[in-house]
Amino acid sequence: MAKQRVLSGIQPTGNLHLGNYLGAIRNWVATQEQYDNYFCVVDLHAITVPYEPGALAANTYEVAALYLACGIDLAYSTIFVQSHIPAHTELAWLLNCITPLNWLERMIQFKEKAVKQGENVSVGLLDYPVLMAADILLYDADLVPVGEDQKQHVELTRDIVLRINDQFGKKGKPVLKLPEPLIRREGARVMSLTDGTKKMSKSDPSELSRISLLDPPEAIAKKIKRCKTDPERGLEFDNPDRPECHNLLTLYMLLADKTQVAVAAECQDMGWGQFKPLLTETAIAALEPLQAKYRELRADPDYLESILREGRDKAAASAESVLARVKNALGFSKAL
Ligand code: TYM
Repeated sequence: MAKQRVLSGIQPTGNLHLGNYLGAIRNWVATQEQYDNYFCVVDLHAITVPYEPGALAANTYEVAALYLACGIDLAYSTIFVQSHIPAHTELAWLLNCITPLNWLERMIQFKEKAVKQGENVSVGLLDYPVLMAADILLYDADLVPVGEDQKQHVELTRDIVLRINDQFGKKGKPVLKLPEPLIRREGARVMSLTDGTKKMSKSDPSELSRISLLDPPEAIAKKIKRCKTDPERGLEFDNPDRPECHNLLTLYMLLADKTQVAVAAECQDMGWGQFKPLLTETAIAALEPLQAKYRELRADPDYLESILREGRDKAAASAESVLARVKNALGFSKAL
């Protein structure tokens, strides 16, 4: 039986952090052998908020290299850059024309980001989930592994599919495949180091709020030393009055690859003075091998480019065939 298809992506906006790693990439790596995977660097999404044009290409390569450094294996997975395949923007336009405006206006992430942009909200920021739907649908993806914050966007994608199949599909012959989100409980929502009630995010103005995958050991030590804690002794999961405690124990659990039961027992009598050095040492040890691999990959730009070229060619074949299927269903004349 053919393997199920997986598609996911990350925006090249600044350094990837532990939320991106634990909520997304680590899970992609863990299950990649079971699936036929497509992982893209979604650079067209990165321009929906103000950005630095001089840094876009370098950030795009950085994310692609991080995919490989974190363990994405080309034997099971295809890596490519979204903007290298024009079908993404073309399908997004077609989907735009069947997506009701109010579906987009109620997206939580749009509302949050729009507040931050003030007067300066682009049409692209509102339309961002439709482009994301195009990313997923061009590959006939069965599963979309993401962190909790992207769930609503995958649900919107499902609504778009149902609408298109209903309006343009023939009986028993849907136009588009209905994808499912794949969200693992642990790591689905990594919180900020400076406020355990806020998600760890690339756009938080404070560097101290997140650990980036390429942070050197001194930076990791400094951020954990300064991170927010509480005055209580004894550490525990799942106490709603202690969000920082839950978050830091979860980070330790995932980075040390231990079970929740084991970590709860190990840390129940610890104070922060004992736990923080343990978490620091664990985070540094977990990130060190991927940082070394990343440096190796960045030293050989030709190799990285060849991977992205191959990825583009393979991804384009799928994308173009799905796009043709959609255009045909929507009634367009054949391209001559
Ligand atoms: P982005 O670039 O914001 O985040 C990339 C992935 O990291 C996850 N993530 C987190 N997980 C846990 N805790 C956190 N604090 C945290 N912060 C981020 C996100 O859930 C995501 O899985 N729109 C997407 C990119 C995208 C995409 C796609 C994803 C574009 N097209 C198609 C899947 C399929 C985004 O902005 O993710």
